[in-house]
Amino acid sequence: MLAYGQFQTETHRQLGNKFLKIGHRGAMGYEPENTLGSFQTAIKLGVDMIELDVHLCKSGELVVIHNEKVDRTTNGKGFIADMTLAELKKLDAGRGQLIPTLEEVLDEVNRRVSVNIELKGIGTAMPVAGLIDKYVSGGWDRNLFLVSSFNVSELKDFREKDGKSRIGIIFDKKSGDLFGLVDKLGAYSIHPNTKLVTPDLIEEAHKKGLRVFVWTVNFPDDIRRLIKIGVDGIFSDFPDRLVWSGGF
Ligand code: G3P
Ligand code: CA
Repeated sequence: MLAYGQFQTETHRQLGNKFLKIGHRGAMGYEPENTLGSFQTAIKLGVDMIELDVHLCKSGELVVIHNEKVDRTTNGKGFIADMTLAELKKLDAGRGQLIPTLEEVLDEVNRRVSVNIELKGIGTAMPVAGLIDKYVSGGWDRNLFLVSSFNVSELKDFREKDGKSRIGIIFDKKSGDLFGLVDKLGAYSIHPNTKLVTPDLIEEAHKKGLRVFVWTVNFPDDIRRLIKIGVDGIFSDFPDRLVWSGGF
């Protein structure tokens, strides 16, 4: 029996890094996305890291939800920025679950796995940096956090406020100066859409000491192929599929 987590390419061994099983919005293939139930299921399925999306609501709390409006994932309507936490808490986020705050998720996770916080909403960088400091002061290892975004200006704001936490750059298009941005931000990892992943990209990233975490991959054949070419972690809606029980 070989688990994906045990499989390491030569490059992995050189970097001394373990392949990460990452639960996308928790385990959204099984549970309503970005809910406490989804994160609990992801942990039960053996993830190393959960991924979640944050926005700021009208009363100032960081809430865990993907879109800027509540329409797609709840029984409500409207922009999160126009709703208070009390209003958001009246909504059903699926199977009776509520929209959680980031603090509620962190308290639930309680250091059992690491947490990838995607800065989805405008203005989330500073409060996320503040919250990470609070949890680090409370005993969390800073490296349990990985802060990522497509939004370069949020990432720059985050880095200005927080010089230490890990940053990941998410992208779904070829960017002219990806590695220039990596240097500017002092990034820890790059997070390409699966369609952009090539052996050359992985090699170049590894040469620069970066980790490559790929999203969103749900089919076992794709998972196997990506692991074979040396990716360092995969985001999946079905994180149990990141465990392999056969040969290559
Ligand atoms: O962080 C990787 C992935 O979550 C980015 O896309 O739309 O699922 O937030 P999305
Ligand atoms: Ca996300």
